[in-house]
Amino acid sequence: MMSVLEAKGLTKVYSSKRTVATTALKGIDLKIEEGEFVGIMGPSGSGKTTLLNLLATIDKPTSGHIYMNGAEVSKLKSSKLAHFRRKNLGFIFQDFNLLDTLSIKENIILPLVMDNYPVKEIEKRVTDIAGFLDIAHILDKKVYEVSGGQQQRTAAARAIIHEPSLILADEPTGNLDSKSAKALMSALQDLHEQKGVTTTMVTHDPVAASYCERILFIRDGELFSEIRKGEARHSFFQEILDVLAMLGGEHHELSASRS
Ligand SMILES: Nc1ncnc2c1ncn2[C@@H]1O[C@H](COP(=O)(O)OP(=O)(O)O)[C@@H](O)[C@H]1O
Ligand SMILES: [Mg+2]
Repeated sequence: MMSVLEAKGLTKVYSSKRTVATTALKGIDLKIEEGEFVGIMGPSGSGKTTLLNLLATIDKPTSGHIYMNGAEVSKLKSSKLAHFRRKNLGFIFQDFNLLDTLSIKENIILPLVMDNYPVKEIEKRVTDIAGFLDIAHILDKKVYEVSGGQQQRTAAARAIIHEPSLILADEPTGNLDSKSAKALMSALQDLHEQKGVTTTMVTHDPVAASYCERILFIRDGELFSEIRKGEARHSFFQEILDVLAMLGGEHHELSASRS
């Protein structure tokens, strides 16, 4: 089976004239297979956001290669990248990124409207996805009229409605209370199990991570270890805590910044 995503020898050095260069990633290799639900964890400053930004084609690696469905995206010219991104990727961020003046439904369908999808197809998809994410009853409300949890499930619906090959999420539960975080994670798990959506999520929250089926741990810009879920989420959760304890470092990032 072809990997949805493959990274080989990803290295990222941040350098500027005034400061000492920071090597944020040191030769990361990874593969995400179709239908996988993968978490990325590691202490604050270990390179998680840098890695996600490279995979998201928002930033370019200093060296190394990224392949998506077999094609090398790290070679694409910026004129092609925007189109590639819109077609193949879906994003969920910590701070929802919804448009306040639009309704929930308008936010969700925006990517399809921009691509001139037929109205019938749009209606069919929005009904389907809103059911999955338990937001069917709030479609006509404005963003400010719904809870944070509902806003993040709206963002998830928007990320998924154009059926991208890969969903990338950076701390999607970071601004949610624990109940809303669980609702989001079980919705993502349903999408993964029933629709085979491929998802890669950065998180420092072990509960959120326990919904994934595989977790990559990074430390100081390198892969530290990898664990896979067995039968029960509960014992996976315990395993996650054990690896985090071994990793050391600060996990509860106080800053909401993604930079
Ligand atoms: N734009 C940037 N310019 C310079 N250094 C950066 C930049 N972004 C991140 N870094 C540095 O790269 C390292 C990894 O950061 P980051 O990927 O944000 O880690 P994480 O998301 O795991 O907290 C850190 O040392 C951070 O200070
Ligand atoms: Mg980060």
